[in-house]
Amino acid sequence: MSVMDHEHPATLAKTNMNAPSHDYTARARLFGGNRMKLGVMAFNCSHGSTITTVPEAWQLNWPDSKEIAQAVDRSGMEALLPVGRWKGYGGPSNFNNRTFESFTWASAIGAVTTYCTVLATVHVPLVHPLMAAKMAATIDHVTNGRFAMNVVCGWFKNEFDMFGAHMRPHDDRYKYATEWLDFVRRAWTAEEEFDFRSESFEAASVWSQPKPLQKPHPPIMNAGGSPAAQEFTTRYCDMNFVILKDRTYLEGAKAQIDHLKKLAAAHGRETRIWIHVYVVCRATEKEARDYLNYYVHEKGDWEAAGNLLQIFGLHNQTLDAKTLEGHKAHFIAGHGGYPLVGTAEQIVDELGKLADIGVDGCLISWVRYKEELAQWNEEVLPLMVQAGLRAPFPPVERPRAAAGSAPPEETRVAAGI
Ligand SMILES: Cc1cc2nc3c(=O)[nH]c(=O)nc-3n(C[C@H](O)[C@H](O)[C@H](O)COP(=O)(O)O)c2cc1C
Repeated sequence: MSVMDHEHPATLAKTNMNAPSHDYTARARLFGGNRMKLGVMAFNCSHGSTITTVPEAWQLNWPDSKEIAQAVDRSGMEALLPVGRWKGYGGPSNFNNRTFESFTWASAIGAVTTYCTVLATVHVPLVHPLMAAKMAATIDHVTNGRFAMNVVCGWFKNEFDMFGAHMRPHDDRYKYATEWLDFVRRAWTAEEEFDFRSESFEAASVWSQPKPLQKPHPPIMNAGGSPAAQEFTTRYCDMNFVILKDRTYLEGAKAQIDHLKKLAAAHGRETRIWIHVYVVCRATEKEARDYLNYYVHEKGDWEAAGNLLQIFGLHNQTLDAKTLEGHKAHFIAGHGGYPLVGTAEQIVDELGKLADIGVDGCLISWVRYKEELAQWNEEVLPLMVQAGLRAPFPPVERPRAAAGSAPPEETRVAAGI
């Protein structure tokens, strides 16, 4: 029996919305809790997710990265996700040409935060599974069980060439990923030494201690969208990070999500759907649209975006060439993410619609992370609480009243941070 068979949805941690939970593990944060979960992504790379030449775009440095992560942590959002990236795309911005490696980034971010789940994005073909298992277990200890792993098969051939790595034919990538993940899970769960033999691996007397703190292991996300990716993610992973193909007609996006959830159910599992959203929040819709127009249409780096889409077009089966071309402005605005552009009220309204169609979590990028995150925390998060999309943070607890006494006033519990 494969180790993957050991995990059953019934064993997954559940937490209830509005019930204060002091379980800060990634499993508790990501598998239960708020109706719309949130995270911040891609600030381990220069320009984050924005393919633009505006001078205020994210330049990448550690002091600000730490500050952003700690502000996300204090806000009660669920996740911090680095992108797996090794090389830029050329053009005047050379978008993403400076990148912090994702496991070492996650370990350092984990050490300076206390609440949020910290993910690492791992390129399955570029990292040996035992190495990934060890790094992940280490980070799970550093973070006291707040680690989760995002596995990707990759598509950017220029990066593979840097490693001298072979890019497999499309569907073989997921066959390899299945073996790779099986190896990782064995290393995370087997108490005794084991041999691992499969088509791609030949490993003897494998030993990996300590195990991750989370049992049976940290949550696993997969970012991919082809039929092969859907099969892999719904069979073996806990979360699917997807690009919504349809932006104007939410029924289309709902059908995409329903399909994934049904596929998981057919495998006796549950999947949670996460998407990338790019946010421009301003006092008026016009101001938000004007700024979007400025950084995408006036100052966008269409050359870098063209390079990205040309290579992505060759190596993905998530989006066909026509859809990709139609999404070009979305790639410049936020790496193909879903737009949240308008006032705080409009954004919360849209988040409600996304929750209604089955989106479990949104990973945010901005042009200016520090400033726009502060605004998000101040203006958007309280409205999400009012809309019932999220519980207040820190959680509000009512201490049990002594018999016959008046109910005590609500007490804010500082949630240990
Ligand atoms: C939402 C999303 C996020 C992704 N993030 C990364 C990433 O950080 N690094 C990377 O190399 N590929 C990333 N990918 C691309 C995948 O690795 C994969 O190569 C791509 O989806 C094509 O595979 P597919 O045709 O099976 O979907 C991402 C894909 C999606 C859908």
